[in-house]
Amino acid sequence: MNTDATQQDQSGGPATGWWTEAVIYQIYPRSFADSDGDGIGDLPGITARLGHLAELGVDAVWLSPFYPSPQADAGYDVADYRDVDPLFGRLEDADKLIAEARAKGLKVIVDLVPNHTSSAHTWFRAALAAGPGSPERARYVFRDGLGPDGDQPPNDWQSVFGGPAWTRVTDPDGRPGQWYLHLFDTGQPDLNWDNPEVQTEFLDVLRFWLDRGVDGFRVDVAHGLIKQADLANWQEPQEILSGNEVEKPRPPMWDQDAVHEIYREWRRVLDSYDGERILVAEAWVEPAERLARYVRPDEMHQAFNFEYLLASWTAPAQYAVITRSLEATDGVGAPTTWVLSNHDVVRHASRLGLTIGGGRPNGIGIGDQQPEAALGLRRARAATLLMLALPGSAYLYQGEELGLPEHTTLPDEARQDPTWERSGHTQRGRDGCRVPIPWEADAPSYGFGPTDASWLPQPPLWAEYALDRQRGVAGSTYEMYRTALRLRREHGLARGPLEWLSSGDEVLAFRNRALTVLANFGDTAVPPPVGELLHSSAPLDADGRVPTDVTVWVRA
Ligand code: NOJ
Repeated sequence: MNTDATQQDQSGGPATGWWTEAVIYQIYPRSFADSDGDGIGDLPGITARLGHLAELGVDAVWLSPFYPSPQADAGYDVADYRDVDPLFGRLEDADKLIAEARAKGLKVIVDLVPNHTSSAHTWFRAALAAGPGSPERARYVFRDGLGPDGDQPPNDWQSVFGGPAWTRVTDPDGRPGQWYLHLFDTGQPDLNWDNPEVQTEFLDVLRFWLDRGVDGFRVDVAHGLIKQADLANWQEPQEILSGNEVEKPRPPMWDQDAVHEIYREWRRVLDSYDGERILVAEAWVEPAERLARYVRPDEMHQAFNFEYLLASWTAPAQYAVITRSLEATDGVGAPTTWVLSNHDVVRHASRLGLTIGGGRPNGIGIGDQQPEAALGLRRARAATLLMLALPGSAYLYQGEELGLPEHTTLPDEARQDPTWERSGHTQRGRDGCRVPIPWEADAPSYGFGPTDASWLPQPPLWAEYALDRQRGVAGSTYEMYRTALRLRREHGLARGPLEWLSSGDEVLAFRNRALTVLANFGDTAVPPPVGELLHSSAPLDADGRVPTDVTVWVRA
């Protein structure tokens, strides 16, 4: 059993392990670094670039899926949970990555996708072959169709990516058969988590990766595993990445109470290992109190704070979400987490360059409103310094340390996110934030790999964001992040507490330990807090004031 005293306090006190303070960097393996020049990033590519992450000053990496997969949803359709897709390397490459990360003082979190498998998984193939009523089909959610010929789906649920959440199968005799549920793509059949075989299988998968030395799991669609038993009609369209509104009844496919028992059991497995291995919930659940249930002391360690990611760039909205988030997680003794970008949303350097309050785009393409690039980056830098001064743990998404924008003019023919097709070309989807990142301005594929190949086309302006154009350059976004991470650590900002000094319509200011942090959202420049200016997201004006859309860190 774990004897480490820093594990989460089961008696309700605040947790104190490494993960309560960590800055965790998300690597999207397809797009981080390509070692073999095929245009798709891979594990050896990541291992070779770990030095960058150590230099940046993050504590851990989270790797999006690298398992064998037909890539119907960029690897979130897993065909084998215990191996590495040849696209990304071999199992030994994963072992090497984990070992080298550890040698550099970085923890490694892998992605676990328990809501659905790939339709190429041996279980699903067996389910198709075995037919209705078989134990093989009982691992998934198969139902007879409605109507005299069974040609209507069993209920009205919609897929998150668009279109119906049910697909009818053809039986081995060639006749139309039952329907199976897939809350995402047709290539992602939902598992039946009421089935003990499914539960046992995932306990074993957890152990497989824990034995290989991983420090934790980011749990995909953690709020989706259990469905309301009657699969009642819902009548609402699914919006990608939608959460539950406070006022609305809970949808029958999300955030069912029984899901928590699964995580309690997983937690017992993790706690039986040495060190502090963690579970992180990807759960689009609102309000914050409902999300906090996933991080009660005997469940997961962290949950992504998407309410924060979605909050408008205004002082009242930021104040409200920060306050609510801290209160909700305090209530269960868990650390609050903060995140501004990931592989599912428009990068914040572009998102914040759109009209405030203008809705949340699911991708941006040619013909859509284009973000104001300079404004977006200015606000993104201010938002980042605000975030990194907050108590708790923060998540960064690869490339944001370069100020990388969304690729907002990606040709539609190049798009690969199933959202684009499944939504009937109404939602452009997530490719724009997944474009391979630039390392060297003058190298082929901007240093992403040894050739020009890149699975999504990189725009020409990538050169100006390349790491080698920013490293050692005062005022660059990369150096801004590095300094912020160093100061955050030196001043123990992750531990807080946060004390508000100003929460008006124009300016937010708070004290965190020795630092006073001020963010100016108003139209006019304001005086900085009294003290020594340690860091700022942009220079002060000629009169020494903090301009609009700038955050400063001052030592009192
Ligand atoms: C959430 C992941 O972040 C997203 O990329 C994926 O498409 C869905 N879950 C389905 O696995």
